Amino acid sequence: MKEKVLIFDTTLRDGEQSPGASLNVQEKVEIARQLEKLNVDIIEAGFPASSPLQFDAVRQIGEESGKIVAALSRAVEGDIKSSWEALRNARHPRIHTFVSTSDIHIMGKFGHDRYGKTLAEKQRTILAMAVNAVRYAKTLAGDVEFSAEDAGRTDPSYLAEVIEAVIDAGATTVNIPDTTGYTWPSEFGRKIADLKKRVTNIDRAVVSVHCHNDLGLAVANTLSAIENGARQAECSMNGIGERAGNASLEEIVMALKVRGDLHDYYTDITTEELYNTSRMVSSFTGLVIQPNKAIVGDNAFAHESGIHQDGMLKNRQTYEVMTPQSVGVPQTHIVLGRHSGKHGLQARLQALGYTVAGEELEKVYQRFLSVADKKKEVYDDDLRVLMGDELNRPLEPLELDYLHINSGTASIPTATVRIRVKEDTYEESSTGDGPVDACFKAIERALGIGSLVNSYSVRSTTAGRQALGEATVRLKDSGRFYTGRGVSTDIIEASARAYLQALSLRQEAGLKNNKNTIDNGI
Ligand code: KIV
Ligand code: ZN
Repeated sequence: MKEKVLIFDTTLRDGEQSPGASLNVQEKVEIARQLEKLNVDIIEAGFPASSPLQFDAVRQIGEESGKIVAALSRAVEGDIKSSWEALRNARHPRIHTFVSTSDIHIMGKFGHDRYGKTLAEKQRTILAMAVNAVRYAKTLAGDVEFSAEDAGRTDPSYLAEVIEAVIDAGATTVNIPDTTGYTWPSEFGRKIADLKKRVTNIDRAVVSVHCHNDLGLAVANTLSAIENGARQAECSMNGIGERAGNASLEEIVMALKVRGDLHDYYTDITTEELYNTSRMVSSFTGLVIQPNKAIVGDNAFAHESGIHQDGMLKNRQTYEVMTPQSVGVPQTHIVLGRHSGKHGLQARLQALGYTVAGEELEKVYQRFLSVADKKKEVYDDDLRVLMGDELNRPLEPLELDYLHINSGTASIPTATVRIRVKEDTYEESSTGDGPVDACFKAIERALGIGSLVNSYSVRSTTAGRQALGEATVRLKDSGRFYTGRGVSTDIIEASARAYLQALSLRQEAGLKNNKNTIDNGI
């Protein structure tokens, strides 16, 4: 009998905690739609108590999605309440609550005497917090998941005691995270097997795992846990997440599928949607996929050496353990151009996983035409970048109205910018060490601010001399980071747009909380 492994996708929660990644509500909703096509079992949509943006994203995704939608909460009543308020109208809500259980976390994060003076006292407090949190969540939702943060480094008998108590309190899923990516595959597998033996009521809950990739072992640890009884795998697209990331969804799913000869586990993932999902996540988060990334990297199905190419021509299985089609890598490249119509664009976007219609389609079409005018051929990756850029736009209170650059081998780089802020415009010029520096200085003068740029990068999103350039600007202000992206065939314009978007995010944060403002301890 084959056994199903549930796929719990945390791209929109842990994934979004990746340094440099930040998604707005529309982008999260669009990714959730694509995750639904991918057919994941659970979508963790965010951490509602951490910011109004997170709250809104969870609310919208919960109301729209036919999948189970989970919201994260610390083991405190306020967080759980906020998760429930966001999920109240969700079709399939899940409250996910967590607290740390390892000695090192307990002593570090719960060091204050109010949690107890000794480790043993603090452990009792944590156990009570876990049970109370699950009991409270259970009064609101039927589907409650509990995570023992840093379970990977938690004493086995204390972990078993906590897990048994939260199942008694009503948890329907118990998650065993390797929060710091410290464990070794056979060790982590034994941990799961051991829990299954020690916890007397374990059959009343699904055992889940959530592995981080600090030692590059997240996928191996997850597979080892599955072999030892875990039936839910928490993972993210492209493996994004805190620090070195989470276990990569596409790697777990394809390893289970391709090596089905070794075991009896399966997932319900529509693997042909992996590629589109991966590209969408990359273009919205700005987190570039390394070319040699398994399954979804540009080189995953490329064969460079003559010997390999020859083998492939004779029989693809000589060097490929799965087909590119099985993960949705396109086999033909459809190119759009300035003569492509709106419906042609809409159909192509739909094939790439984007749902655009009405006014939004009109806006994207106008943007597409201006790119097609400059670039002639518009590739799928150009469209993805444009979609990412378009969905970012509503967040921009500061708009680039005009930009003029003077630069050359024999002249001092000079930039003039005009910035629109609602009805007002601000115009300034500046020289600089290069055209980008001149442009940034002109923006700073126009807005009357000092330099806040912490890092800046620019990359081409597609091949060819007319490729779209994507600039990323990271600002640091009062200990918080704000990342903006801009896209254009002109990289100075892309840079100016990126800077203004980061400044817009900073301005927004001045008015509301955003995800960086809360010390949520994870
Ligand atoms: O890594 C971790 O422990 C987490 C939990 C909140 C599930 O992300
Ligand atoms: Zn995590």
